[in-house]
Amino acid sequence: MRIAHLSDLHFGLHRADLVEPLLAQVNGARPDVIVLTGDLTHRSRLEQWREATEFLARLEAPVLCVPGNHDIPAWNPLARVVIPFAAYRRNVGAPTDVEMQFGRVSLQGVNTADPLAWDRGRISKARADEVIARLRPAALNIVALHHPMQQRPEVRRELMRGAPEALRSFERGGVDIVLSGHLHRWAAAELLGQGRRTLQIHAGTALCSRPGDKQNEFAVLDMHAGGLTATRHIAPMDQQGFQPPVTQNFLRQGGLWRAEAA
Ligand SMILES: [Fe+2]
Ligand SMILES: [Fe+2]
Repeated sequence: MRIAHLSDLHFGLHRADLVEPLLAQVNGARPDVIVLTGDLTHRSRLEQWREATEFLARLEAPVLCVPGNHDIPAWNPLARVVIPFAAYRRNVGAPTDVEMQFGRVSLQGVNTADPLAWDRGRISKARADEVIARLRPAALNIVALHHPMQQRPEVRRELMRGAPEALRSFERGGVDIVLSGHLHRWAAAELLGQGRRTLQIHAGTALCSRPGDKQNEFAVLDMHAGGLTATRHIAPMDQQGFQPPVTQNFLRQGGLWRAEAA
């Protein structure tokens, strides 16, 4: 089972030169499913959605997608509160209740974008409980959402509202892997400490060229009996295309994930 995990495309503030190399790399990896953890557009404007949907149409695998805060029209106060997901719904599909099954792998998409907590996002107890209720006991259960549920200490942004409680509930309830985006910086091993029941993977940004973004990247995640291998495809800002990929293994023993030493 192979997942291509992409996040934070930010069409409208994206690297146009990287669109074709990204499509070639993602499709060339022949994933079973592509997980897109939000921020497809930069400002949820018409032209940005046109570019985003053209990109989606060229992906050659099923796509499980969730909205990010940038997919809400923050520039339009009325639309932001009254119809925050209208453009997303029109261009991508339902923002909530997204589920897919691939053999023994079960995927759920959770909408954490919230017009009343625009940057920070939110996961309610009710939503976390719904996720737990939908877990498949015999499956590898993966949850995809935009806002991370835990951050490294050096991250100077507010953690998603409700994240600590929801993460505890995910770990207790049996969520195996959480895929997220939003911070535009990869993190995974750093979040495991001495071992955790849930492996969290923060994707970097696949296309955004915002000042402060140091590189673009996406990851290919291969599930296997003992764990997961993450293969990161990195495109530095000052170079054309992608570098040779780097891999990191995550092993699960006794119910706990740990990162294999490089
Ligand atoms: Fe983003
Ligand atoms: Fe975001």
